Amino acid sequence: MKALLYNMTPEQKVYVDEWNKEHPDDDLETTNDELEAGTVEQAKGFDVVSVLQIFDINDEEVYQKLASYGINHIALRSVGFNIINFDYAHKYHILITNTPAYSPRAVAENTLTSAMYLLRKWGPILKNEKEDLNFIREASLMSDEIYNQTVGIIGVGRIGTAVAEMFHALGARVIGYDLIENPANEAFLKYTDFDTVIKEADILTLHTPLEPEIENMISAKQFKEMKNTAYLINAARGPLVNTHDLIAALQNQEIAGASLDVMTGEEEIVMKKFTSISELPEDYRELVKMPNVVFTPHSAYYTKTSVKNMIKQSMTDAKRVLNGQKPVYPVED
Ligand code: COI
Repeated sequence: MKALLYNMTPEQKVYVDEWNKEHPDDDLETTNDELEAGTVEQAKGFDVVSVLQIFDINDEEVYQKLASYGINHIALRSVGFNIINFDYAHKYHILITNTPAYSPRAVAENTLTSAMYLLRKWGPILKNEKEDLNFIREASLMSDEIYNQTVGIIGVGRIGTAVAEMFHALGARVIGYDLIENPANEAFLKYTDFDTVIKEADILTLHTPLEPEIENMISAKQFKEMKNTAYLINAARGPLVNTHDLIAALQNQEIAGASLDVMTGEEEIVMKKFTSISELPEDYRELVKMPNVVFTPHSAYYTKTSVKNMIKQSMTDAKRVLNGQKPVYPVED
């Protein structure tokens, strides 16, 4: 198998080298580039390409050129597959696989970290400490305890389930909404409807894939229905939340805070360094000033286990497809 892995970084390369050593018949090559119209030609001569990127692949030329090189498989190294234009993938008979099980715990543990950071008011505590050398235990810094909280999960797939198990283990009441209910999950979560999750959650956390019909799923109406002491955690996809309405809800104290690993427009800031607030896109300028809001750079997934499994699982499927076997993780859209 000759595979070209786009979006390569040194920490992923370790596992690419490992694969090449363990599979002498394979040749995995890498490029730091995104897969786009300007870089697709690098794929000529390969059997398969693999990507891990947040930029949409929306240019028909990419799919058309891959097909013309005889490449009929894009092996995503991500859980999410919203970067793919499925009209073009179908038109050019390009199979898409993803890696939904690289580490649900990675995102779940990050969600737990976000919840505890918000609940224990570490945002304002750190702001007082770092900016003002202020170590006063103000009444506004008093916390709640996690076992008294209701954690509401929208999207109870692999990641949502791992989140539910963790919070349940800490004694929290866990409620969740999903189109598909798994009876096995009822050991640690109570399924309910979307509106009840919104209204009853002290910590509302999103774990659904991005589909066009659920863009802006959390907007002004939901913020008004949420408890004004509630926290929002989004480590799923930015467009699930209406950023404008989120800013208004925080300014009007309709909710108490937010942890955002993803946000609409994140392509403009993730993997970039800025020298002043004025350089940030407008929405970020507003939110970054708020001590009850924390951003992480789309890093909820980013653990050693995830990075290793992304390579292994994507390349396993690449090999299976080339050998005429069914992939383990086909994406059906
Ligand atoms: C995913 O796996 O879906 C992620 O969000 C990771 C990202 C770097 C694409």
